[in-house]
Amino acid sequence: MIEQRLIEFQKHGDDRGELVALEYMKDIPFKVERVYYIFDTKLGSVRGCHAHKALEQILICLKGSCTLSLEDFSGRKEYLLKSPFKGVFISGLIWREIYDFSDDCILLVLSSECFDENDYIRDYAEFKNRVNKFV
Ligand code: TYD
Repeated sequence: MIEQRLIEFQKHGDDRGELVALEYMKDIPFKVERVYYIFDTKLGSVRGCHAHKALEQILICLKGSCTLSLEDFSGRKEYLLKSPFKGVFISGLIWREIYDFSDDCILLVLSSECFDENDYIRDYAEFKNRVNKFV
């Protein structure tokens, strides 16, 4: 089974508008060491296309929409991300691709570690080799 979870965040909005707060252990199962966001994505672009050896992440679509594909040893699953009230937790050996970005999409990524190219598996054949050892 794919080791990831759709997390629904608590809403703190009121008549002034919406607010979401994310706290370690309450809403997020890891300490956030890095934050990045993807926006102004050009039509037809595909991002990601890699797996991580140890990194844990939560992806949150703050604005607009995009599609996230996750693949592990058990298969592939697609998520339509379109709500700032929901995040997808990614942990374990998972190949991720993100596409179908709307013009206005802002995708926030919370990560458990700082950027480390050594933690990336960018070659799909290598990912398949590693992941097949789980089967
Ligand atoms: P890339 O890995 O292609 O992004 P994505 O997986 O989201 O498609 O990263 C693009 C460039 O940005 C690449 O030169 C590495 C750099 N980068 C950082 O410096 N820090 C980061 O946290 C990330 C995600 C990328």
